[in-house]
Amino acid sequence: MINFEILSIFPEMFSSPLNFSLLKKAQEKGLIKISLHNIRDWADDKQKMTDDAPYGGGCGMVMKLEPVEKALSAIRRGDEKDSTVVLMTPQGEVFNQKIAAELSHKKRIMIVCGRYEGVDERIREHLVDREISIGDYILTGGELAAMVLIDAVSRFIPDVLGNPDSAQDESFSQNLLEYPQYTRPAAYKGWMVPDILLSGNHAEIELWRRKESLRKTYKKRPDLLNKITLSDEDKKILDKIKLEDI
Ligand code: ADE
Repeated sequence: MINFEILSIFPEMFSSPLNFSLLKKAQEKGLIKISLHNIRDWADDKQKMTDDAPYGGGCGMVMKLEPVEKALSAIRRGDEKDSTVVLMTPQGEVFNQKIAAELSHKKRIMIVCGRYEGVDERIREHLVDREISIGDYILTGGELAAMVLIDAVSRFIPDVLGNPDSAQDESFSQNLLEYPQYTRPAAYKGWMVPDILLSGNHAEIELWRRKESLRKTYKKRPDLLNKITLSDEDKKILDKIKLEDI
């Protein structure tokens, strides 16, 4: 079970997207727990300010250090080996399936959602273990990014997905894109499901899937092919694909 502890000034943002479908079931089954903490509750001035003007001047506001530090101190339970503190920020390492798998071994993930134009640098220096970005673009805050992380991490927890093989099989777990999938009807408006999938020949279907997986990756994400060691069989298939493509 992983407990995601969210530190945000808009914790309400998290209530709906995480309360549907597989993540809802995962919470009901006790496979994950999502705890929301409003950073504002640890702001001790009258206005409950969580941001302030930057030292040295400049436009925009900076997320204050003390409310985040106090919130984290209140949530932390001494020396927890299996817990980690993550700051969602566009400056972080870019999130991917490997990081999601690593985080899925933690028992508690405390996620600080940055806001405003940035966060006081001392939050990075003294309070967080890891900074994570979900891509090279700027969101209005870390909340949506945190939800993306929770979703991707949760899928690695046994029993969260209906089928235990799903997380293994799919795109990116082997650095290949997933082969094309079809379901009924076999024909619609003359748009056909490939005959091979209706043949019942499982060995041929496996081969076809591997080839189409390699083809998709070659066409859409050729960069991924450099990240895996292709078997001799895969290399032959890939050579064929390249010829077919000319
Ligand atoms: N906060 C703002 N933009 C972000 C991003 N791309 N990833 C993570 N947190 C963010």
